[in-house]
Amino acid sequence: MTAQIIDGKAIAKQLRLKIAEKVSSRLNRGLPAPGLAVILVGNDAASSIYVNKKVQACEEIGFNSKKIELPESTSEQELLNTIDSLNANPEIHGVLLQLPIPEHIDSNKMLEHIAPEKDVDGFHAFNLGRLVQRNPLLRSCTPKGIITLLESIDGVDIRGMDATIVGASNIVGRPMSLELLIKGCTTTVCHRFTKNLQSHVERAELLIVAVGKPGIVKAEWIKPGAIVIDVGINRLETGEVVGDLDYEAAVEKAGWITPVPGGVGPMTVATLMENTILAAELSEEKVR
Ligand code: GUN
Repeated sequence: MTAQIIDGKAIAKQLRLKIAEKVSSRLNRGLPAPGLAVILVGNDAASSIYVNKKVQACEEIGFNSKKIELPESTSEQELLNTIDSLNANPEIHGVLLQLPIPEHIDSNKMLEHIAPEKDVDGFHAFNLGRLVQRNPLLRSCTPKGIITLLESIDGVDIRGMDATIVGASNIVGRPMSLELLIKGCTTTVCHRFTKNLQSHVERAELLIVAVGKPGIVKAEWIKPGAIVIDVGINRLETGEVVGDLDYEAAVEKAGWITPVPGGVGPMTVATLMENTILAAELSEEKVR
């Protein structure tokens, strides 16, 4: 069997076009363009690339964007003050703190300081709590983007599927498990203490791999015909970007698969744009 490709790049493009139309309509109605502030603390090279991608996406789609670069030596108080000023800025509808941040700063404390209605990453306890209660408001971008990809597969309903998520991070694995529960999957989350990873992968009709280590899941473990979502973005010494799975082998076993690059990555950025325009709309609802 050769898998059908879930073309994240194309689906993200469609979503961005829809959002750009909404921006035009807002401007025609005298409403401001959505505004997103992205904070980067320190010198993490990968983070710098991701932040630039987010800011560039804002420009292309007609959003206002503000990139705030702070040095590695930034204190907690300085970062809290920066977040305070963005929380109070009416032109900014979304505030994103790029992770990881330097170790001397408590990341949870910073994420909790972002106003929940501007938390376009969906990492604030309020938004995560809403997701737990099956009443989501702002949802984390990567898991929400994956749900959009799954909904795009013609003729497939994931309700009732056995789903396995490999990786239990706060950014992907944990919110992903809540998203899949809402969708009606029977969901297993595997992590570093999981005893028999292979057995959990082998019975997955839907497999989501989000570890950041190439080869952690073997392609031969994939259930024939499964839907496979590879969230890994790993840069090899050769400069090549690969996922967590051996794509060439996985494509021969899966029924549907996301490529890397061009799968989940572009959806994360497009979903951030979707969340930012939603945050702008929510701010206007509050005023009315
Ligand atoms: N670092 C890696 N992925 C993400 C993400 O989705 N949001 C933020 N803020 N930081 C990240």
